[in-house]
Amino acid sequence: PLVTSEKMLLDAKKDGYAVGAFNVENMEMVKAVIAAAEELNAPVMLQTTPSTVKYGTLETFAGIVKAEAAKTKIPVCLHLDHGNSFELAVQAMKAGYTSVMIDGSHEDFENNIAVTKKVVDVANAFGIPVEAELGKVGGKEDDLEADTDTNTDPQEAKEFVERTGVSSLAVAIGTAHGFYVGTPVLDKPRVSAIKEVVDVPLVLHGASGLSEEDVRECVERGMCKVNFATELRVAYTDAVKKLLEEKPETFDPKKLGVVAMEAVKEQVIARMKMCGCDGKA
Ligand code: 13P
Ligand code: ZN
Ligand code: NA
Repeated sequence: PLVTSEKMLLDAKKDGYAVGAFNVENMEMVKAVIAAAEELNAPVMLQTTPSTVKYGTLETFAGIVKAEAAKTKIPVCLHLDHGNSFELAVQAMKAGYTSVMIDGSHEDFENNIAVTKKVVDVANAFGIPVEAELGKVGGKEDDLEADTDTNTDPQEAKEFVERTGVSSLAVAIGTAHGFYVGTPVLDKPRVSAIKEVVDVPLVLHGASGLSEEDVRECVERGMCKVNFATELRVAYTDAVKKLLEEKPETFDPKKLGVVAMEAVKEQVIARMKMCGCDGKA
């Protein structure tokens, strides 16, 4: 069924694993991610960024995910990723999203608190959990370029959570959106330091390109939700390219969809195992 992210993230925090959160761009990706979750008996979050919402609309993604989630016993959550305005966050809740992120990390501390608090107040009325971000994750996120890489300060994180009442917090420890040029330099002890003073589940962004060891250690230290986007798009597109190279006469979109879904599903299965959420539904 379609559920909020509240229980799945609290369960993950309690049991020391992370829920995988996978960015989807179309029906095929939705089906592939849910199929992976069913195969592993894992709770799952599907998420769309503002640019994806612009491409497909909130109502369309909500419709697709609602229909697919209704067919399965696995808990499925639909989350707005990197919500970039109060208005979009509210529209997502109205459209049927069961979790939202408001990303005020490009604002200064006080303005980040203000916009986050404003979303939390409305979300409370909807019964929908809110993820916020403090500190800056590097790289190109959706169509915004992060300017500087600033890791999250634990004491600021504590104050931020207390003053906003958010349900989960994305923190910066050196990861970046997209693939990494060199080896990423992660401040893993910072995850533990933040976890020690912050009550809510922590969220790791930018997981495409991280090693299995990196993901596992971040989860062990307290990350309860791990976001994967770029590598799923690559898996999807590589599978389509391969089919078109091997069989250039292909013209049926369903044929492209079948190979793309298989590739995305395999990638999601591997990442769910790294997060330790398999068997946790
Ligand atoms: P990647 O594109 O590096 O997987 O980052 C995903 C993410 O953080 C989505 O919010
Ligand atoms: Zn992100
Ligand atoms: Na990344």
